[in-house]
Amino acid sequence: MPSTLFSKFKMRDLELANRIVVSPMGQYSGDNGNATEWHMMHLGHLAVSGAGLLITEATAVNPQGRLSKTDLGLYSDENEAALEHVIGFCRRNGGAKLGIQLYHGGRKSSITTAWEGQKAIPIDKGGWVTYSATDTPYPGRNIPEALDEAGIQREIAAFVKAAERANRIGFDMIEIHGAHGYLIHNFLSPFSNTRTDGYGGSLQGRMRFPIEIYEAIRKVWPDHKPLGMRISATDWVEGGWTLDDSVVLAKELKKRGCDYITASSGGSVPEQQLQVGPGYQVPFAEKIRRESGMTTMAVGLITEARQAEEIVASGQADMVALGRGMLFNPRWPWHAAMELGEQVYYPPQYERSHPKMRAGDFLKPRAEK
Ligand SMILES: Cc1cc2nc3c(=O)[nH]c(=O)nc-3n(C[C@H](O)[C@H](O)[C@H](O)COP(=O)(O)O)c2cc1C
Repeated sequence: MPSTLFSKFKMRDLELANRIVVSPMGQYSGDNGNATEWHMMHLGHLAVSGAGLLITEATAVNPQGRLSKTDLGLYSDENEAALEHVIGFCRRNGGAKLGIQLYHGGRKSSITTAWEGQKAIPIDKGGWVTYSATDTPYPGRNIPEALDEAGIQREIAAFVKAAERANRIGFDMIEIHGAHGYLIHNFLSPFSNTRTDGYGGSLQGRMRFPIEIYEAIRKVWPDHKPLGMRISATDWVEGGWTLDDSVVLAKELKKRGCDYITASSGGSVPEQQLQVGPGYQVPFAEKIRRESGMTTMAVGLITEARQAEEIVASGQADMVALGRGMLFNPRWPWHAAMELGEQVYYPPQYERSHPKMRAGDFLKPRAEK
């Protein structure tokens, strides 16, 4: 039986060589929002990993939307030029298609890096004003300002402008980051959205800002390029955003032509009771796919080739994203291809990297672009 994991997958005009995706992973290595040498190395080697799609890290649409000072941004010409340099390099040397994740950190913004403990930086210590659906803070973080209507329009415009920059850079697709307790999720979750205007209250009201961002980007993002959204499929707390809410959101987005949803989870409130284990978020991708008909990407502790194969072959999801597994073993798709007897992108420069390797055997040079 040929592998489903290594079968092609098409969204609009974008054809992926296989269903393996490098999950977006923040590197806390930007300089004023600009991609650096670290990104050349990090994204460069992931571009030759054999994954069909590489999604770059959460990239802020404006400076206030950065979690930390070292986030990548796409809000200035300088940011655009720096990222173009890295992405052009990946395109010329790698095999993966390239996606960008756009985001705004919302009420979680203004913190130190991951390895400095993600501690809040108060405004008088060099931090910045943060924004959310209301002024309720995430515990331990700065008190956000509630976005008024003008602020909402300003944030939507920032997403649009960043999308236009992403197109100029040559990204193949965009993933809107609607998960993990960041701005879009702040509007979705009843824990962080207790607004009484048209952007809060009912489920419809809470979904309005995320849907408006989606619609506004779709208007400027070329028709032939896919646009998807990552969501936290559940808040993992009674009374929060639920998997059923996610199905409703997926249906609304599907009506508007959204190409896929990545089913992540959590991040809204610290009381969350995560049940973590192998493939723990796959059932979320499966239910969303089954009940809304939306294309889904599964993510979260997918680490084994046969596990990944089973997820896509059984129709639980259309694609699988790997995060930590790809950091630990950036050649994971090569190993998976070998285990499943399939072919995968393989740069000719590395032809001698495995004793069993013969040109045209299980690995092959990249197809013409
Ligand atoms: C170092 C690191 C950085 C991450 N940064 C992001 C990010 O920028 N955007 C995002 O949506 N998820 C981010 N995540 C979450 C991953 O994309 C992924 O969803 C999560 O790690 C679960 O998948 P895994 O078990 O394969 O790692 C990050 C995870 C790690 C380990």
